Order: sequence, then structure tokens, then C-alpha cells
Amino acid sequence: MIDIHTHILPHFDDGAKDTEIAKEMLQAELAQGTKTLVFTSHYYGRKHSPARYVEQRNEIFERLKQHLPEGMEYRLGAEVHFTGINVPDYDEFCKLAIDGTKYILVEFPFTSKWTWELLDKLADFIYDTGYTPIIAHVERYKEVMEKPSLATELVEMGCLLQVNAESFLDKGTKGLAFALLKHGYVHCIGSDTHDMEMRNPGVLQEAKAALEKEGFADEWARAQEIMSHVLADEKVAVPVGKPIKKFLGKYF
Ligand SMILES: [Fe+2]
Repeated sequence: MIDIHTHILPHFDDGAKDTEIAKEMLQAELAQGTKTLVFTSHYYGRKHSPARYVEQRNEIFERLKQHLPEGMEYRLGAEVHFTGINVPDYDEFCKLAIDGTKYILVEFPFTSKWTWELLDKLADFIYDTGYTPIIAHVERYKEVMEKPSLATELVEMGCLLQVNAESFLDKGTKGLAFALLKHGYVHCIGSDTHDMEMRNPGVLQEAKAALEKEGFADEWARAQEIMSHVLADEKVAVPVGKPIKKFLGKYF
């Protein structure tokens, strides 16, 4: 099992607040059967350049190394907030990709509208760099909840879509999460764990069980397969499914 979205590096973002919590989270990842874990602490681009972020992240990782349980492979990435104007320079920005790959976990704005300009900037980024954005927890944005056909637009543009494991379990989000799954739009699944309370790492195993129970074992396996291609920096061709429709609060 791969966890492609985590906030475990201590003292770095709003995830693990100290090394003890990071150690607990790592043990929980190991216990649930995670084999590869990607550290994706937030990058906002306000305080630091990507180069500075990478330097600090790597220092923290070096210090954590002595506490990393054996039995898991560790990769370094970032969850990169993308506003369209915080992209100083593509070469710099690409330093935030998952190490050794041309895949970058991108978080879109939660509070402001997704303008055409923003989507154009992302399309330009893909075209100019050949990097593939993985849109973090696509199901959690108000924009996508209101207009689920945006998922199709993002895939057409060349993005992969990541869904949080918790969203398959939570009453408020499972409708859209399962609709994305049925339409073939769940390419990556991550815990987005922040500590032992906020999305406990074990949520991944719970989501796997829930998906299997609902008859989506193949879709779970497919997401695992796509993520292993991502981490091997292999090109992934994902089909563009039908746009999801919303009617009377339900997704079809
Ligand atoms: Fe996150």
C-alpha cells in the first residue's frame, strides 16, 4: 500500500507537531500495511522559495531518519499550493515534485474562486514543463462539489486526481468520492494524515476495507497501480470518463 499524501515531517507545517507524534504516525502507517510513504508537507510560497523549502524539508528528514521504521520506503515531495501567481519560475517550482519524478502534488485554493486564469496557468505549466500535477483531495473543494464536471476538465488538461481516504468514510463527502471512483477519476488515494487525531494514518486501511465492501476492490488496486507508476516516474495514461452530474444534491 502506498500513502502518497502525508504531513508527518515534524515542526514543518500544520502536521506532526513534534518528533514523538511523527514516530506514532509512522508506526500507524507501518501497522496498516503501508509500504511506501511520501512526505508531502505544505508549501505555500509566501515565506520561502522552493529551494529554501527543499533545503529545510531535507534537513528535517535527515533528523527523522534515525526514527524511521524499517519495512517502508520513504520519498520526499510537497503539497504545493497553486494560486497561479506564486509560481516564480518553473525550474524552481519543479523542485517541489516528488523526488525523482515529474509528478507534483498540487493544492488548489479553498477559499477563492477557480478562475479561468488559474486553470490556464496550470495548463501552461503542464505544457511548458511536461510535469504532471496530481490535484490533492479533489473532492474537498467547494468548486468541485458544486460543479463536479471540473474533474473531467482537470483530467483532460493532463492532471491526475487524488482523493483522501477519509472522504470514502465520511457521510458528507462519500457521495462525491464514490461518484469520482465510479467515473474512473480516482487515480491516487492518500491519507492526508496530519496527526493521530486529524486523519489518523490508519484511515487508509479503513477506506480500503470500505471500498472492498462496496465492490470497488478493483478501483482500489488500480489506484495503487497508478501510484506505483507515478513513483517510478512512468507515464500514466488515464481515460477521460463521462462528466459527473449533480442533481438534488446527489452525484451521478
Ligand atoms: Fe494535505
